[in-house]
Amino acid sequence: MTSVPVITVDGPSGAGKGTISHLLAERLGWHLLDSGALYRVTGQACVIEGVSWGDPAAVADIARHLDVVFTLAENGEIRVAYKGVDVSAEIRTEEGGRGASTVAAIPAVREALLARQRDFMQPPGLVADGRDMGTVVFRDAPLKFFLTASASERAERRYKQLIAKGESVSLPRLLADIQERDERDSNRSVSPLVPAEDAIVIDSSATPITEVFERVMLEVKKKGFI
Ligand code: DC
Repeated sequence: MTSVPVITVDGPSGAGKGTISHLLAERLGWHLLDSGALYRVTGQACVIEGVSWGDPAAVADIARHLDVVFTLAENGEIRVAYKGVDVSAEIRTEEGGRGASTVAAIPAVREALLARQRDFMQPPGLVADGRDMGTVVFRDAPLKFFLTASASERAERRYKQLIAKGESVSLPRLLADIQERDERDSNRSVSPLVPAEDAIVIDSSATPITEVFERVMLEVKKKGFI
């Protein structure tokens, strides 16, 4: 790999990876890779093209030819377009998460998205958010974090987010979904969700996100990135 520095932030959904990665990329002025969005767009592209998530060969073909563009909106949000159509809202639904997790378990899909993820490694640096950033995609990254939190805490956070958005959701259903997704992400044969051996593991169950960020920044400073 080249000398572009990469900081990886892995962990299960709802552990605060997205928030921490955004803050970190902003503070450092580095690029940001939301790798989950690539899997989510792949799932959504299947829905649009009429391909079943259960058809590995067809899904891999979709992933190989994925026409996706990420743009940074004025409010700081990342917008995602598939074939020129904004799918940002669709890919962030619970169904979008289920699709992403299902297609992400297909080895050929992961292979197809590998080079696309590595293309994000551009100067001055990259913050990479995902499940296998530190174990597979950017194995040589000089600084790796693994954020985690209990399933009930993550379900509670997601519940509050969805309620704030005006959606009607059931907390037990959300918890069941999170447990099911954890199970699938952790037990798949390729790139399962596990911390890299050299990752700094942070459990945010009882820690406010501001404190998690302070802890992360401490390590970033130790490495001399700031
Ligand atoms: O981070 P997220 O919730 O947007 O990810 C959606 C799904 O995509 C997640 O359930 C597993 C999958 N994923 C993955 O397998 N590998 C990644 N690097 C990122 C996401």
